[in-house]
Amino acid sequence: MGAKQGVGPRIDELRELIRHHDRQYFVENAPEISDRAYDRLMGELVGLEAEHPGLVTPDSPTQRVGGEPAEGFETVTHSVPMLSLDNSYSPDELREFDARVRKQLPDEDVAYVVELKLDGVSVALTYEDGILVGGATRGDGRRGDDVTANLRTIPSIPLRLAEEGGATVEVRGEVFMPRSGFDELNRTRKREETAPFANPRNAAAGSLKLLDPGEVAARPLDAFFYQLVGADAHGVGTHHEAIAAIAAMGLRASPEASLCADIESAIERCGDWQERRGGLDFDIDGMVVKVDSLDQQARLGATAKSPRWGIAFKFPAQSETTVVADIVVQVGRTGKLTPVAILEPVLVSGSTVSRATLHNQDEIDRLDVRIGDTVTIEKGGEVIPKVVSVVKSKRKGRPRRFRMPVNCPVCSEPVVKPSGEVDLRCENVSCAAQVKRSIEHFAARGAMNIEGLGTALVDQLVEKGIVEDFGDLYSLDRDVLIDLERMGEKSTDNLLAEIEKSRNRSFARLLFALGVRHVGSRVADVLAAEFPSMEKLENASEEELAEVDEVGPVIAGSVRAFLSSKHNRALLAKLEDAGLAMRTKRRRARAGSRPSESRLAGKTVVLTGVLEGMTRDEARAAIAAAGGRVTGSVSAKTDLVVVGSDPGSKLAKARKLGIKAIDEKKLRKLLGT
Ligand code: IVH
Repeated sequence: MGAKQGVGPRIDELRELIRHHDRQYFVENAPEISDRAYDRLMGELVGLEAEHPGLVTPDSPTQRVGGEPAEGFETVTHSVPMLSLDNSYSPDELREFDARVRKQLPDEDVAYVVELKLDGVSVALTYEDGILVGGATRGDGRRGDDVTANLRTIPSIPLRLAEEGGATVEVRGEVFMPRSGFDELNRTRKREETAPFANPRNAAAGSLKLLDPGEVAARPLDAFFYQLVGADAHGVGTHHEAIAAIAAMGLRASPEASLCADIESAIERCGDWQERRGGLDFDIDGMVVKVDSLDQQARLGATAKSPRWGIAFKFPAQSETTVVADIVVQVGRTGKLTPVAILEPVLVSGSTVSRATLHNQDEIDRLDVRIGDTVTIEKGGEVIPKVVSVVKSKRKGRPRRFRMPVNCPVCSEPVVKPSGEVDLRCENVSCAAQVKRSIEHFAARGAMNIEGLGTALVDQLVEKGIVEDFGDLYSLDRDVLIDLERMGEKSTDNLLAEIEKSRNRSFARLLFALGVRHVGSRVADVLAAEFPSMEKLENASEEELAEVDEVGPVIAGSVRAFLSSKHNRALLAKLEDAGLAMRTKRRRARAGSRPSESRLAGKTVVLTGVLEGMTRDEARAAIAAAGGRVTGSVSAKTDLVVVGSDPGSKLAKARKLGIKAIDEKKLRKLLGT
């Protein structure tokens, strides 16, 4: 008790400090301390809370990353329906809107607020006594998904409002992904062989739907808020005051909102932003024009679908025409062939576009695009430009049709079209294109992290026959490297040192670096925890793999196919000879707790709810180390369910099946920790 009293004030102080610096960093864009100093504050708080779990509160800054996978989302009914806005597409349509408004409010002045129309996902947040207690998506407008745990991971959403004493409020706004974060995320996804998101809005929507808040935390999400529900109860009489009140609460308020005396000046604002939209780091698909007076808003009311006090002004998608100079075929790391249109460079939405993917032959046929054609390319919400149509009237003579090759353009081996897929693949694992890209992936950050091994160098190494696969990186000759283009003594020695360092990467990293289809870094971690050595992984059947939590039949099939290939087995042997980690290094087991003797040996375990003293990954690794297996869902094969706080439907199912359930304390006992 005494200790608690002693640390309590320090914990409060640390939370206050961290909240202040979060706000400076995420909301004000004006950090006051270094990242290191911030990490030290957070580190101290994490330490104190770990020692005094009773003092952990839900609004503590340490509670942002929940890590607790939900079982699906609960449905919540909105306090007031979340309507959507009617659209307009021209200044005249805005004037018609103004005429409708003023007809309902005869002889009154009507001022408008013009705001950016953020292209994201609308959400509602509820704060009680200043503490974030709920967050939901719009859903069908009446009922949405409870995504509180996911929203808590967004750094610019405060877990506690800034205002002294706190308030009970509901605010609504838009969660979105900044373009810079989106580009980075898609680069990673491409590297990990996961389908990239088509645009930042899809990425934001997809992220909010993830069931694991830990994963959401890694997505670069942000949010802006534009509505204070029941604003009059907060002493606010106009929309622009509501925006100011939202900002005063420590939330990010709708940016660039401007008060306009009449519709003509509102129209002017819309026109300005249509020109300037390319300069923002997030996508907007138009502007929103709202009546400023909340009293007038109330009198105008709403139809079943949308309010009469506001309207969206949608920007036209930006399009340009250009000429298809050529169509080339790219071969990716896993052998997928992608046709790419090489375009005469053209400026669209502020960036020069010179290539556009044509996806596959089906898409080329659908568009009937031929080499030499003039095409319309569009950059709407999407960041990646797409060819939307061929300007047939400009087609001259007989432009050349394009057909996907029957042989790989890089290695000349016949290509195949796996049944059920639209894509063509080169299945020659020694194809130079695949070899080059797989070496790049192997060396990438997050994988073996070999700095200095860039595209140009990899191309030379493969083209000159110096390496045939990434296994050969560990027997590179200094004299050979020095003679390569743009290599000198220093860069050669640096590279060799980097390669040397990479020998110590963990087994999980190596698994990711291998470039097995569908095995990203997260899945690699899960596999390495469950099968802590290459031997164990090789001995696992497809069914056993598919049963692992977060691994399904697709990944399981892909892992099995990879490990069954003779070529890959030879590659793995080469890596083992090079001294790479073929097993997870574990802390030495305590005497008497060898896996075979553990009470968890051979047991199939399911985790549900939030564990207090360890993360899921830690629990998974510890259970695997004790000889057990963690699977994702409860079935008749399950031996044991470990129940944390807030357990989900898995516990109910376990009860139904009569499966033994234990709590975390009991698990620790079984683990001998
Ligand atoms: S006001 C009654 N303001 O656009 C609806 N909406 O169809 C009040 N949106 O569902 C919405 N930026 O998701 C408002 N500054 C903004 C907005 C905005 C984006 C979204 C919102 C809404 C949709 C309109």
